[in-house]
Amino acid sequence: MTIRNPELLNAVARQYGTPVWLYDAAVIRERVAQLRAFDVIRFAQKACSNIHILRLMREQGVVVDAVSLGEIERALAAGFSGRGDEPSGIVLTADLLDQATLARVVEEQIPVNAGSIDMLRQLGTASPGHRVWLRINPGFGHGHSNKTNTGGENSKHGIWHEQLPDALQVIREHGLTLVGLHMHIGSGVDYGHLQQVCGAMVELVAGMGHDLEAISAGGGLSIPYRDGEARIDTAHYFGLWDAARKEIEARLGHPVRLEIEPGRFLVAESGTLLAEVRAVKDMGSRHFVLVDAGFNDLMRPSMYGSYHGISLVAQGRPQPAGDALLPTVVAGPLCESGDVFTQEDGGVVVTRDLPPCQVGDYLLFHDTGAYGASMSSNYNSRPLLPEVLIDGDAVRLIRRRQTMAELLALEAV
Ligand code: LLP
Repeated sequence: MTIRNPELLNAVARQYGTPVWLYDAAVIRERVAQLRAFDVIRFAQKACSNIHILRLMREQGVVVDAVSLGEIERALAAGFSGRGDEPSGIVLTADLLDQATLARVVEEQIPVNAGSIDMLRQLGTASPGHRVWLRINPGFGHGHSNKTNTGGENSKHGIWHEQLPDALQVIREHGLTLVGLHMHIGSGVDYGHLQQVCGAMVELVAGMGHDLEAISAGGGLSIPYRDGEARIDTAHYFGLWDAARKEIEARLGHPVRLEIEPGRFLVAESGTLLAEVRAVKDMGSRHFVLVDAGFNDLMRPSMYGSYHGISLVAQGRPQPAGDALLPTVVAGPLCESGDVFTQEDGGVVVTRDLPPCQVGDYLLFHDTGAYGASMSSNYNSRPLLPEVLIDGDAVRLIRRRQTMAELLALEAV
């Protein structure tokens, strides 16, 4: 929520047009610093996979998680490597390996965090000795929405905890090298579940009869999207995992590396979506403000009923102060009723109290650095938006707006 300077916002909007994504590098650096206690910070780049953001992470000593061939290519382009000393490189986390991705991880010797035993077999056959993690589904999960709960029997993710011995058998048969165990039970994990995951990790390692180098705490650290929401206590978070790690070390008799794999925590608060108000209308009892960004750009409200703070940057008049706030529905341009930024899970349209908006004003959607641009689509044939990185006084375009010609290019067959 830091990019609030109206002059800066106006300059960016004038130069690059609207809608536009903005990121504040200082916020990312601050969040990285808060997790330094962990041996390895591995950025879950699905949250924000722009190569320049990945480079910024690399400059901070943060390594990277990839979940697809495309994310591997982005990480390589940003200067990460698969080969060599593993903590400095890329890990691919997935539940399956398509042929092209399998070929690339073998070529680049990228360690694989396996979410299925079939993956292990395929990798073991193609690349004996390959370094692997096991992503374990401990039988329970938790998320800010059912769609972001990645544990338990309704989730497709990970190797079921009771099948760990089978996975280890495949590892031995194929001469794979086990790096460690990994658990990510969802996004928005609370302390209660965290303690449960730490306990499950200790128990699994105790019973597995196989050595390992590392454990991964996964990601899932929440951020305060609403004013007044508590901020996660990273020291406490680390403390719980560190205690689990120490129990594991005592059992194994050697040091064990502790990794963490956040996406949202590192980037969400750095990001703002700036959109322009293009229509204001009343519909029965509802007051609508329509902006030029849609759910093809910022999908989270439509997908999960997620809340993002919204604020006004008035244009051509002083910032409204002391005006009565209007209960407002904020919506986009898409030809679909669900294209509403103020809604709750299940598509229930709600209002947000905003100052009166006029056509030409800007609205800011806050905390959109994670799962904002990276979840955008071309729905309604709308081009992808530009991304701008603000680093102190420097304002840098890190992705230009997709052109109409690019939008049509793939169909020129
Ligand atoms: N590690 C693994 C294996 C994951 O699957 C994920 C997220 C993360 C780490 C990072 O989770 P985070 O720290 O960002 O919560 N689109 C949804 C979030 C989906 C997350 C999927 N996996 C949203 O907008 O909230």
